[in-house]
Amino acid sequence: MKKDTLANLLLEWYEQNGRDLPWRVKGGAHPDPYVILVSELMLQQTTVKTVIPYFYRFMEKFPTINALAAAPLEEVYLYWQGLGYYSRARSLHNTAQIIMQQYRGKFPQTKNEVLKLKGIGPYTAASFLALAFNQPETVVDGNVIRIICRLYNLEQPPAEIMPLIRQKAEALTDEYHAADYASAIMDLGALICTPANPRCKDCPWQNRCQARQLGNAEKLPLRNKIAKPEKYGKVYLVFNRKGEVFIRKRTEKGLLSGLYEFPWSAERDLFPQTEPQDSRLNVTHVFTHFRLNLKIYTLHCENPDKDGIFTIPDNLKNYPFSTLMKKVYQTYASSHTQLPLFTKVKS
Ligand code: ADE
Repeated sequence: MKKDTLANLLLEWYEQNGRDLPWRVKGGAHPDPYVILVSELMLQQTTVKTVIPYFYRFMEKFPTINALAAAPLEEVYLYWQGLGYYSRARSLHNTAQIIMQQYRGKFPQTKNEVLKLKGIGPYTAASFLALAFNQPETVVDGNVIRIICRLYNLEQPPAEIMPLIRQKAEALTDEYHAADYASAIMDLGALICTPANPRCKDCPWQNRCQARQLGNAEKLPLRNKIAKPEKYGKVYLVFNRKGEVFIRKRTEKGLLSGLYEFPWSAERDLFPQTEPQDSRLNVTHVFTHFRLNLKIYTLHCENPDKDGIFTIPDNLKNYPFSTLMKKVYQTYASSHTQLPLFTKVKS
């Protein structure tokens, strides 16, 4: 009989209750590391539910690392459109090209090599090596932090005790079943050991969980209650006489780089010589470190004196836009019924 270790209890639970996800196989490493690379990049800062349809469309369009490496970046952006954090799409594309060119299509399998790839930090390196190659790596994300704090009733703010959390998480990892263990602990965090109303009665670790025994589970980990700073700005829908709207491409660095946008700016006026009309419409978007509030202005202008192009509103769907910019246009178009709304990329 198997020993009653925490890892075994979790693996047994996972066999019965683990989620079937499109990038997952149960019972060992995934046979195609490309599937793990794409899904792990998509899942950075994004929920499973959001990622699933994007993952299907992306894999249909770019089924192999070769297909992705050969595609133009702009096409990759189109299939990432709406997922946010677009530097991930750029990193993924770059990584595909490096793997094709420098590794002749064979995925690197050492941590040192994987960490040199774009868009792959310590968390993704660990999840990639565990899920794609069954290497005994430990994933430590927000879910795992919560589980460890509860399992050992750690009452300090997690940021102050990360080495301890990491050490405990590593000690738990099953070195022979690293792929299943990584998936299992992710599922435990998503399905059972949730931030609010944890389902302790269904938890395979309920008899070992110190926070549960002390009635502390829901109070841990200590929450960081600092509100995100607010930023304000103005965004301009510039129309010409033909009813076309002005768009421009962001330069390749920083927030939302490489995507198209309507001209916008934090706080200052972008078109001081003209008379922008206040549409009285606003959009708000939450980024990782701040909330951005944009007021929508419209103006008529034939030559905006900025790099960009005019396009008919019907054509906007053919350019990659961030969710924020889509929200800007949708908000405006919804109150101007003659304008078309964005439609999704065809898969
Ligand atoms: N979050 C990060 N990686 C994940 C995965 N492979 N499955 C579910 N959630 C995840």
